[in-house]
Amino acid sequence: MVQKTKFILNSREVITDAHPGTLVLDFLRQNEKMMGTKEGCREGDCGACTVIIGELANDKISYKPITSCLMPTGELHGKHLVTIEGLNLPELSPVQEAIVEEGATQCGFCTPGIVVSLTAALMEEESDISKDFVNRALSGHLCRCTGYRSLKACESHFKESIGKRSGVNALIDMGGIPNYFRDIPSRLKKIPSLTSPNGSAEHFFIAGGTDIYIQEGDILRKSSVGILNLNPEIKGVSRKNGHIQVGSLTTFEEFAAHPEITDIIPDIEKYMFLIASWQIRTRATLGGNIINASPIGDMTILLMALDSLLVLQNGTGSRKVPLTSFYKGYKQLDKTDSEILTEILIPSFSPDTKIHFEKISKRKCLDIASVNLALKVVEKNNFIKDICMAAGGVAPVPLYLEKTCKFLKDQTISKDLLYDTIALIQEEISPITDIRGSKDYKRLLIHQLVIKSFVNLFPNRLSIEEFYEKH
Ligand SMILES: Cc1cc2nc3c(=O)[nH]c(=O)nc-3n(C[C@H](O)[C@H](O)[C@H](O)COP(=O)(O)OP(=O)(O)OC[C@H]3O[C@@H](n4cnc5c(N)ncnc54)[C@H](O)[C@@H]3O)c2cc1C
Ligand code: FES
Ligand code: FES
Repeated sequence: MVQKTKFILNSREVITDAHPGTLVLDFLRQNEKMMGTKEGCREGDCGACTVIIGELANDKISYKPITSCLMPTGELHGKHLVTIEGLNLPELSPVQEAIVEEGATQCGFCTPGIVVSLTAALMEEESDISKDFVNRALSGHLCRCTGYRSLKACESHFKESIGKRSGVNALIDMGGIPNYFRDIPSRLKKIPSLTSPNGSAEHFFIAGGTDIYIQEGDILRKSSVGILNLNPEIKGVSRKNGHIQVGSLTTFEEFAAHPEITDIIPDIEKYMFLIASWQIRTRATLGGNIINASPIGDMTILLMALDSLLVLQNGTGSRKVPLTSFYKGYKQLDKTDSEILTEILIPSFSPDTKIHFEKISKRKCLDIASVNLALKVVEKNNFIKDICMAAGGVAPVPLYLEKTCKFLKDQTISKDLLYDTIALIQEEISPITDIRGSKDYKRLLIHQLVIKSFVNLFPNRLSIEEFYEKH
């Protein structure tokens, strides 16, 4: 029996028996004939299809922008789907007004998605209309007409019209979004949660959908799909038995915002700006990043350097596997088809532990890495008590630099040590030439990233000038 998906679309309740694997974008345009949500790339790259998803957790609703071209309709069950049509007011909203005032639209194809993302940013509980507000909100949007300067100029309008107000209720009160938003939490509470078959399926597991829809999009619309997000118990961050325990469905954004994580990785927000876009980070899960097994997966490299353990579950049984030994070859995992990754366990840190992450890609936002590098170092007075390093883009798998880590343990940081380290890494890696760069370029990148990372980690011992001649 096919279960019906029940959700609220703008102000209206919808019950549908559309295939749960149908893209939200297709559902809106083909089933609902709502054409405001635009179809551009269908790969999460352009932002034209952006919608907002509202979700209740502990009686509190939170809203986030997502690309509707990568989300299954079955996952809408019990949620609030907001499209550009649902943001209209009798007058222009503050976001629409700013865009008009700044001439920030021409052909208008990208504009609905941009209005949606900017509104989502203003709906955030602690939205900060600082100099990065528009950059962050629009990191997942392409506009081929206006240029981004006029969009950036909208920021000053928000400072005037919105000021320090933030959050959904404040925005409703000042007439920034429609009044119907107020009743949505109580209406969502009345929708009973779904159990099977969507939540326990057989053939294709979908987490955030940001990889699998690109690889298997056509098949997912017709096949039996297991929408993992209908089982939210494998989501979230907590501390347990000497580990930080991270549910595999935790998204990049949730991970980076959690106090347990900001505590151990103070620069995590800065790193996030280098990874995908806001709309992708609100969907992409840590589990999906690990299982997708891309040799350049950013979170995989970071979690590998954190010496993480994976918990794999099969029915009622479970086992633990170190992430450092999970990859057996290109896209070959120590995992059976029926096993689900439920948790990632990060061992506790001593206070003298430092974490660092670097990524080089062809453009800053919304691009995959040519090479990335992550390090966890336990040090005292420039003496390395322990170190874990992982690199991406330099081997068929996300690579734990085992020999280099063994070599560096119990050494004192110096310029010569760093040169020996780089020489050893060059022996451990085996980059290939591909669209992200030639193998020689990648060898050069890892050389530079190691220097940059160690200079950052040990500023009292090393300076960038000693590695490069002045011209
Ligand atoms: C525009 C765009 C930009 C991107 N930029 C980056 C980037 O900068 N850095 C980066 O690292 N990645 C990037 N990605 C890739 C992608 O977002 C990540 O790899 C993401 O972590 C995948 O997670 P997901 O939840 O969406 O996985 P999904 O697509 O849902 O799943 C991926 C695979 O893992 C399986 N799977 C997922 N969860 C589980 C589980 N718990 N147990 C068992 N199997 C599971 C699925 O069956 C599928 O085979 C980008 C993607 C897009 C579309
Ligand atoms: S259509 Fe381009 S991001 Fe969805
Ligand atoms: S206004 Fe034409 S693509 Fe942005």
